[in-house]
Amino acid sequence: MKQYFKLDEWRVIEEGFNPEENKVAESICSLGNGHMGQRANFEENYSGDSLQGSYMAGVYYPDKTRVGWWKNGYPEYFAKVLNSTNWIGIDIKVNGETLDLAKATVKNFTRILNMKEAYLERSFNAVLSNGNEVKVSSKRFLSAVYPEIGAIKYSITPVNFSGELTITPYLDGDVKNQDSNYDEKFWDEVQINASTDISSLVLKTKKLDFHICSAMKFDIVNGGVKINSAVTTDTKEKFVSNTVNVKAEQGKEVVIYKYASNVTSRNHAKEELATKASEVLTKAYNEGFDTLLAKQVEAWAEKWKESDIVIEGDVEAQQGIRFNIFQLNQTYTGEDERLNIGPKGFTGEKYGGSTYWDTEAYCIPFYLATADQKVARNLLIYRHKHLEKAKENARKLGFKKGALYPMVTMNGEECHNEWEITFEEIHRNGAIAYAIYNYVNYTGDKSYLGEYGLEVLAEISRFWKERVHYSPRKGKYVMHGVTGPNEYENNVNNNWYTNRIAVWTLEYTLEVIDYLKANEPERYKELEAKLQINAEETAKWRDITLNMFYPVDEELGIFLQQEGYMDKEQILVSELPEEDRPLNQKWSWDRILRSCFIKQADVLQGLFFLEHSYDDETIRRNFNFYEPRTVHESSLSPCVHSILASKLGMQDKAYEMYLRTSRLDLDNYNNDTEDGCHTTSMAGTWMSVVQGFGGMRVKEGKLHFNPFIPGHWNSFSFKVMFRGALLKVNVTKENVVITNESNVELTVAVNGKDHLVKGNEELIINN
Ligand code: BGC
Repeated sequence: MKQYFKLDEWRVIEEGFNPEENKVAESICSLGNGHMGQRANFEENYSGDSLQGSYMAGVYYPDKTRVGWWKNGYPEYFAKVLNSTNWIGIDIKVNGETLDLAKATVKNFTRILNMKEAYLERSFNAVLSNGNEVKVSSKRFLSAVYPEIGAIKYSITPVNFSGELTITPYLDGDVKNQDSNYDEKFWDEVQINASTDISSLVLKTKKLDFHICSAMKFDIVNGGVKINSAVTTDTKEKFVSNTVNVKAEQGKEVVIYKYASNVTSRNHAKEELATKASEVLTKAYNEGFDTLLAKQVEAWAEKWKESDIVIEGDVEAQQGIRFNIFQLNQTYTGEDERLNIGPKGFTGEKYGGSTYWDTEAYCIPFYLATADQKVARNLLIYRHKHLEKAKENARKLGFKKGALYPMVTMNGEECHNEWEITFEEIHRNGAIAYAIYNYVNYTGDKSYLGEYGLEVLAEISRFWKERVHYSPRKGKYVMHGVTGPNEYENNVNNNWYTNRIAVWTLEYTLEVIDYLKANEPERYKELEAKLQINAEETAKWRDITLNMFYPVDEELGIFLQQEGYMDKEQILVSELPEEDRPLNQKWSWDRILRSCFIKQADVLQGLFFLEHSYDDETIRRNFNFYEPRTVHESSLSPCVHSILASKLGMQDKAYEMYLRTSRLDLDNYNNDTEDGCHTTSMAGTWMSVVQGFGGMRVKEGKLHFNPFIPGHWNSFSFKVMFRGALLKVNVTKENVVITNESNVELTVAVNGKDHLVKGNEELIINN
């Protein structure tokens, strides 16, 4: 672990040109606006090591599956978020020589992600081999106000010469996915419009017929004067450019303003894409860079107003949390219920940009508390829309009834193809059910249950019913051949977490049925008929809830991760040599599977979700046993441990785990940030502050706080939206101050005692 980026409360700063860190910095400084996103690639040509990445939300490709040995039930394809048109490109030639930082001598290099105002800036001096030195600075952003728009301001000043700059803004659709299974390119050209005014490029995917269009327009200002030099156009396959030659004078800045629009057939008719792209581009161009940027700053001020966390006295922790909140807010805005949150957001290709259980298990609480209720609701509806596909998926695997949601999906179909995950990591179904509970518990919106919730819950319950079997020897129901959240074990019997979340789903489904029968009898009748729920079936569900087998170790007083876990050689992570870690990069898979080491919270994931069912001592015994065996090689791991440690009063551990989760990418803990950031786990970081240090819980419709100040912080504050109110909770060494930034009054419990917080008033509770 190393701290490569400079500390700052609102910015992530890279200083010095270090090509070996370029891909990490490209991931970290990525930009997005819900509709599209991109890695922090350079605008000018760069022949060094880089992962070019520009992504359009919801535009994907079903890449043909590649496996060593085909197994029945595998999906035919692995959906991938597509690397799409590079619209940021601006090639620069200085007296005929291409500006390329891999070939120039680079001085004073900085790349800065401004999180407060959501833009990326870069500056450097480059001495080319012809001896010409230029000073360059660039600024770009993806508009939060006009999601289809991106804008760049790129300035070059000749330092030691006067001469010719050849400036070539372009759109390049001839791009590939690094993770393409058969080294194929996924785009075909549909139309190129080469013009000296607006040039555009329409592409379509080779399968599924997604169409996208990028359009560009630019201005050049030389020494403060907008110039009208001759513009030439050029085209190649899937490529269009404009070129302008500029007489640049020593010491005088030449500024290029490049505007681009990126539209897709997800939102517009295919035949109209080029026209639409021109329309939105013209509007943005007419507003101009400075106005667009001012609107960007304003829009982000609003986002921060609702979701900022302020930490005083610890800039490392402050930068960490803002980085996480920033990435979450730029990845998913909740306006489009067809979209979801890929584990890497818009920062890389890994995980294919697909939807995982991460959304339900980790992201929902963040969006519940920091955005309008409809955002989390849309995330739930996304799964409701995929219910038929989840039923098909279960049939494909041989289940007569029920729904098995995919581990990895774009459109509801499973697209992961490792048997131990695709077929066995079925606990994801439980997280999808749990998210419904979480949403209703937080918002009080019980209408969701009758409208959508029960249909999903009933089908998941049916799956669990068929997936367990009765063991006459044990006199209990058991579940064999599963993989728990800890992917460092496969094909285990009676994974405690999976058994527990299955039973919890059945119990909750029965509870929801009772609720609907009593409160929405008409709607329940409709659902009963539609879903054909009968007494025999619900009796069976209840029987399973009462007679499930759970592995435990009586002597240690813990739940066992799975049967036989204690027969493994018991070694602690502290006994592992430093050079053996991360295990997944240093050990053979065989060695990992046989070891006792745990990738991420497993039993503890269950205790985190269902903490209300266990006393603190039970949670403590399990925490003390499992945490020292956990290598946290999934980004989803440290946050759960941090929250549990906070609950147990283990403040140092909670803080250690917090730093690890909040700076996981910034400090490249798992040595994999070059592939992209761990966006979904960032919601876990937020939870470790709000639910961990803030001790926030919702119990019977009321917000509870049980805060403490970790580490060497002087104070911290966070914002939460709850049932129409917006609260700012500020925790200092002396007191807890809750400011109601809305008109809606509500009662909150602080350290177990109720307090009324009136609209627009402040409540001060002294320690
Ligand atoms: C974790 C999974 C997670 C996936 C995507 C894996 O490394 O083990 O739990 O869903 O990453 O974040």
